[in-house]
Amino acid sequence: MQQSSRSRKAALRVRVPSRKLMILSLAIFAILPPIFFHFRLRRLQQLQLTKCRWLNDPPLVCAHGGDSSKASPNTMASYFHALQSRVDCIEIDVSRSSDGVLFALHDRDLQRLNGNTSSKVGYMNSEEIRKLSASHQSTSKFTDESILTIQDALMLTANSVRQIVLDVKVGPPFYEKKLAKDVLSIVILPKEKNNLIIEPQKFSSPSILFSSMPPLRDICNGRHSPCVCRS
Ligand SMILES: *[C@@H]1O[C@H](CO)[C@@H](O)[C@H](O)[C@H]1NC(C)=O
Repeated sequence: MQQSSRSRKAALRVRVPSRKLMILSLAIFAILPPIFFHFRLRRLQQLQLTKCRWLNDPPLVCAHGGDSSKASPNTMASYFHALQSRVDCIEIDVSRSSDGVLFALHDRDLQRLNGNTSSKVGYMNSEEIRKLSASHQSTSKFTDESILTIQDALMLTANSVRQIVLDVKVGPPFYEKKLAKDVLSIVILPKEKNNLIIEPQKFSSPSILFSSMPPLRDICNGRHSPCVCRS
């Protein structure tokens, strides 16, 4: 009898710390999953930040020469079709006529229009280009394949897109001679300061980006291609 009461006491002594231990382990078990998921979530967020950052700043959809699937590139109609599709950006090819007028035109486009595979924009004057343009005019803006000057092309597109890429073609017979100045006199108000033409822009709503023309890239703050001039 005496022996069994002693053993019960001993068992009691053992049971007390085991209950504490049980509560403690229960507490740990309760805390562990939230901690685990907290770190797991943080890791996921970090992964999302590094891998999906572009989602906050998605790439722009850029129509090369307008929508050339619906009309010939760099024509009134191709720009209209692109704007109707609500593109973010339009790429405009820029070529200079023999008398120094800048057109939204590529040698390739010119050759398609006049059927002469050896014509180059630089050897034609603005009058000849305008005549060629008139022969492709139409009353509907969606079928009008006339050629635009850069001013007209910018006027048409600048308020409807976030970015315009001017792909300035350097070609014969004048190549780069005064080309940067001619382009900038249209895009940017000439405001000379230490021989550098700087902003503000005439077309301030979209950013205008230049490609394939080293002198223009140099003028835009000495940054390397592609360079964005913002107002
Ligand atoms: C095609 O263009 C070239 C270069 O401008 C010119 O010399 C030639 O006479 C043209 N050919 C025709 C058939 O008009």
